[in-house]
Amino acid sequence: MIVRNEQQMKSITKAAQVAATVLDRMCAMVAPGMNTYDLDQSGRRFIDELGGESACYKYQVGSRIYPAYTCLSVNNEVVHGIGSIDRVLKEGDIISVDVCTRYNGYIGDNCRTVAVGRVEPEVERLLEVTEESMYAGIKAARRGNRVGKISNAVQRVVEKAGFSVIRDFVGHGVGKSLHEEPQIPNFGRPGNGPKLREGAVLCIEPMVNMGRHAVKMSDDGWTALTADGSASAHFEHTVIVTDDGPEILSVPQGKEAPELALKD
Ligand code: MF3
Ligand code: CO
Repeated sequence: MIVRNEQQMKSITKAAQVAATVLDRMCAMVAPGMNTYDLDQSGRRFIDELGGESACYKYQVGSRIYPAYTCLSVNNEVVHGIGSIDRVLKEGDIISVDVCTRYNGYIGDNCRTVAVGRVEPEVERLLEVTEESMYAGIKAARRGNRVGKISNAVQRVVEKAGFSVIRDFVGHGVGKSLHEEPQIPNFGRPGNGPKLREGAVLCIEPMVNMGRHAVKMSDDGWTALTADGSASAHFEHTVIVTDDGPEILSVPQGKEAPELALKD
């Protein structure tokens, strides 16, 4: 687990602010009739305007190269959905907007699932519970706790609500690269994993299915889908472990961070 000095902290904060600003702007555009290619292209422009770069575009896993600027995952798509002109959002859909940007050599990563118009009450609950589980995880990101404390806090909230936590994708440390140590599963025992140290920067990101936790890969080689076709939600913040507890970095500049104490 890498810990950051003051200068690095400032740089990561700036990168996370850029990612958060882009996320806010993209979520504000979500509406019935919009296609996900145009939404991705808007993301690309916002990132550009703010002087950043997409950390997804051309991201390479083996021989596969990610073709889009943000990850846009609709309904039963779990993560890493690729914007498409044929994917037109309609009332009742949900869409996970995942934005990771590089700024001045550092990366910020955040995600939110939003409703397209009115959605079924059970889908609304899926979004609320997933967000709540993220905040439970963030609150557990305290110096001296083990990573498993975050994992366990997330899992409890999700399973109590009758939903399931994805096993195949996990949260992660972040810094000069998108995925750094430690891995942060969204399930597990509080005593497992490395101890959190002050200055560690973490992406805490529960991915939650309404049905079973299993996922499968789509034919495009990137998009993860729920195996049972159920809806899936995803919330993510970039967080730093400080002396005084967790601090959320993925907040647009000048905007107040969500009050963790009130997130009970
Ligand atoms: N925020 C996503 C993640 O942490 C970004 C992935 S980039 C992609 O996995 F290229 F894999 F999509
Ligand atoms: Co991430």
